[in-house]
Amino acid sequence: MKTRTLTVAALALLACVGLTACSGAGNKNENKNENMTKQENIQEVAGRKNFGNKHALVTTPQPCVMIATWDKDHTPDVMMAAWAGQLDYAQIVISLSKHKTTDNLAETGAFTISFADERTVAESDYFGLVSGNDVPDKVARTGFTFTPSPNVDAPIINEYPLTLECRVVSFEDGMLIGEVVNQSADESILTDGKVDLTKLKPIVFDAAAMCYRALGDSVGQAWGSGKKFQ
Ligand SMILES: Cc1cc2nc3c(=O)[nH]c(=O)nc-3n(C[C@H](O)[C@H](O)[C@H](O)COP(=O)(O)O)c2cc1C
Repeated sequence: MKTRTLTVAALALLACVGLTACSGAGNKNENKNENMTKQENIQEVAGRKNFGNKHALVTTPQPCVMIATWDKDHTPDVMMAAWAGQLDYAQIVISLSKHKTTDNLAETGAFTISFADERTVAESDYFGLVSGNDVPDKVARTGFTFTPSPNVDAPIINEYPLTLECRVVSFEDGMLIGEVVNQSADESILTDGKVDLTKLKPIVFDAAAMCYRALGDSVGQAWGSGKKFQ
């Protein structure tokens, strides 16, 4: 992977994409943990509880990214991924185990990314619970609909109002890197022509409590609130 800093932040992801823990990624991360720093020398700081490097508490909260692909019969599939982050201005990175989605990616070289929101919690969680390999009509069961992307060989899920259309740059060692060729947003989530998170109402995955949370109010200005220390 490129030697660039990977910003691991849910809000950074929503500005174009962060990382998570989940059942699907579990096996891979348990394997990764075997290779991590041995834990016996980890020291405690007074007043702080250590959790070691157990993956379930790493980088929470995390974005709930919905990856949509075509399978070989052009049936749409969607999966949830929370181990996702922004790699560059127009590149995203997602840590993926083997899924129907990864088979689809190998076939088409393309995918779309949308963001689970308060209106789509149940459907989005379902997309993370069940594999299209086991349930061929996975997407149809939720009643979600789709439109073929005019820009990449992947479906846009109509019920998600913010979508990135992406081409696969590489998929190696479980790391998918995608180039964002277009971002589109439904008018319903725009204010003055810009994506308005108070309208999108994205959710984040809380890996400590294993739940989804709504985002709260704006509490400060980016590159602004800190100026009082300048
Ligand atoms: C909250 C949550 C987060 C998840 N994050 C990831 C992830 O980052 N990477 C991954 O490989 N699987 C992740 N999964 C698991 C997949 O979404 C799941 O295995 C899904 O059924 C795969 O669908 P598919 O086989 O139809 O592609 C996550 C699941 C949930 C519920």
